[in-house]
Amino acid sequence: MKKKVVLAYSGGLDTSVCIPLLKEHYDFDHVITVIVDVGQPKEEIKNAMEKAQMISDKNYTIDANTEFVEDYIFPLIKANGNYEGYVLGTAIARPLIAKKVMEVAYAEGAEAVAHGCTGKGNDQLRFEAVFRSSDLMVLAPMRDMNLTREWEIQYALEHNIPVTVTKEKPWSVDENIWSRSIEGGHLEDPGFIAPEEIFEWTRTPEKGPDPEIIKIGFVDGVPVSLNDTRMDGVSLITELNRIGGMHGVGRTDMIEDRVLGIKARENYEHPAATILLNAHMDLERLVLTRRELSFKVKVDEEWSEMAYMGLVDEPLYNDLNAFIDTTQQRMEGIVKLRLYKGSAVVVARESPYALYSADLASFDESSIDQKDAEGVAKYHGFQGRLYQRQNLR
Ligand code: ARG
Repeated sequence: MKKKVVLAYSGGLDTSVCIPLLKEHYDFDHVITVIVDVGQPKEEIKNAMEKAQMISDKNYTIDANTEFVEDYIFPLIKANGNYEGYVLGTAIARPLIAKKVMEVAYAEGAEAVAHGCTGKGNDQLRFEAVFRSSDLMVLAPMRDMNLTREWEIQYALEHNIPVTVTKEKPWSVDENIWSRSIEGGHLEDPGFIAPEEIFEWTRTPEKGPDPEIIKIGFVDGVPVSLNDTRMDGVSLITELNRIGGMHGVGRTDMIEDRVLGIKARENYEHPAATILLNAHMDLERLVLTRRELSFKVKVDEEWSEMAYMGLVDEPLYNDLNAFIDTTQQRMEGIVKLRLYKGSAVVVARESPYALYSADLASFDESSIDQKDAEGVAKYHGFQGRLYQRQNLR
């Protein structure tokens, strides 16, 4: 019987080099690649498929866009997903990619799964948190072998792997429908200002057009319409990336604490994420009680940290989702935002579940007997008063 391994494949240099390595250094006869489409550029998927055709024994390309949006991004929106300011695009996609690779491994009767992550980043942890739930052998050739870029290029050329890394664009990019991450090269110096050329989704903010107001409809905490047109999640996010990108919305330049403790300089662009998260958080402020809001901030933070670490199989992750889902049953309504030169600001919101009452807040209404507040006022700050009296003595 042939020894088979299933590899998560992107078409990049690292995962391409993994293919001959898995044969020569790990003794597999059959390397099966899996390309999981979570919204990478069409060109990137196409290139990866062509390369796989040439260098792997068998390839699967799996369109997981809808599943990614509905089962991973929608929960993220409900949880206001945000880790240190990062909207978690790469992080949230990894468990799904790992799951798809594992499914292929079972279907193929493989004895191992592999990824091309190095030993420095978060992705190794995210992949393996899922991989290791199986009894499959888990392989990470890049991490095992500590390879240099030059060695990889040389090795690739010797194995007829087309090398497309160019000297002029030395960034490492990871892209899916939720965000585009750019790191490496000169960007590794946090004191270096990121050049405009690293951005592909967003126009330079100051070059954006006149302000534009957009209208997003939510049901159960997830976006369902744009400017009164109902849309599925994939189309809606794609369209918001386009419109927001035109206005230069959704750039992040940050220092990020990786799981291993390494601080990394990261650049991201994510127009739809910024728009949807701003809108969703604002709608929550209209609908949820003060106590729900202050508690949910903590839940959201814990959720985001677990999502960042790829710990989606932990029971706590489900528990947090259960709490979040309960709060989202009332999260219905419409939010309007103004997009202008890099900003996406909420300018109006409405909901059938709004706890807001114009009557109560208004200065002109007399539906509240103001005298009722006197008793409350007498006790407000009560302990502070006791303390102050003590100090006077
Ligand atoms: N730092 C981010 C994360 O850990 C993104 C990493 C993306 N990788 C890349 N090669 N750009 O989720």
